[in-house]
Amino acid sequence: MRRTIIKGIGHYIPPRVVTNHDLEKIMNTSDEWIRERTGIVERHWAEPGVGTSDLATEAAIRAIEDAGIDKSEIDFIVAATLSPDHYFPGIGVQVQAKLGLKEIGALDIRNQCSGFIYALSVADQYIRTGTYNKILLVAAELQSANLDFSDEGRDMAVLFGDGAGAVVLEANDSDDGRGVLSCHLFSDGRFVSELWMEKPSSKDNPTFREEFFHQGKFFPRMNGRLVFKNACEKMPQAVMAGLEKLGLTVNDIDYLIPHQANDRISQMVARGLRIPEEKVIRNIHKYGNTTAASIPIALSEAVKEGKIKPGMLIALTAFGSGFTWGSAFIRW
Ligand code: ACO
Repeated sequence: MRRTIIKGIGHYIPPRVVTNHDLEKIMNTSDEWIRERTGIVERHWAEPGVGTSDLATEAAIRAIEDAGIDKSEIDFIVAATLSPDHYFPGIGVQVQAKLGLKEIGALDIRNQCSGFIYALSVADQYIRTGTYNKILLVAAELQSANLDFSDEGRDMAVLFGDGAGAVVLEANDSDDGRGVLSCHLFSDGRFVSELWMEKPSSKDNPTFREEFFHQGKFFPRMNGRLVFKNACEKMPQAVMAGLEKLGLTVNDIDYLIPHQANDRISQMVARGLRIPEEKVIRNIHKYGNTTAASIPIALSEAVKEGKIKPGMLIALTAFGSGFTWGSAFIRW
């Protein structure tokens, strides 16, 4: 059976480190509050002038190098981000141009924190059906340029970091069992306004108004407690749905990589699934929440650190704005 394997993986984190103590100087918060509530110690912010597509391209270069292929072999791009360089077009075409690739298709996925899992499921289908042979999947996020440092926005401002992760996917026709085993996607649009950036909105004519700017409507907002509760419930449910379909159990999972939203959420997810902490990849203390990029960054780091070995079962799970959530299972 044809499956999709990760042929190469890479990530890129912009060099500028912003610690909790740095944030104390620009907003009403404390290192203690942030650490206790989220586990975050520092995050990285891109410099002005750098765009999400630049971070994505850097990660893509690393993934292509890791795959050991020539970039001209890539025949499709899937890009996931909630923070594109421009309102439109998406970053997929910019990555294509920055890599100097020929006129291949580039698809943008808008599923926020679940973006990588949604993007992986799409790319997996293209590869399984033989539509494309080598897909570059990039997930990148640059949130630091639009954070609200006032008391109204401080719950979110302390969470986010910038970064990008990328994988090169290709078909595996052998029967060694390696590859993406399955992806499981869910959404509940009743919760749109519980985690969103309300403006700009096509409902407003004209769309861009100074009053919205003064009302802080262009900043991300969330109902933190509701997001927390749902994330802790839905991620374990998504993992269990996948295990059931695959006829596997929690004990079969070698590593769980949850979306790095908040370390307390990751701990609750592990507890909910009864997975020991040493099997859960967590790096939010260094990078904060990098939204769509958090899973591929964590996976890339774990691979580079030698934790992930051939034959291991890796479970990915994410939850975020929409609400959208899901899981994916990869036999490495
Ligand atoms: N620093 C200091 N105090 C703060 C901060 C801050 N950065 N943010 C909020 N507070 C204050 C609040 O104003 C509140 O003060 P009050 O009691 O005087 O009213 C107090 O801290 C407690 O606030 P809560 O919201 O009740 O704190 P909670 O324990 O719920 O933790 C948190 C907040 C960490 C945001 C939590 O709700 C959470 O993690 N939610 C999920 C977040 C998440 O994963 N979001 C997804 C990210 S978005 C995305 O990925 C697309």
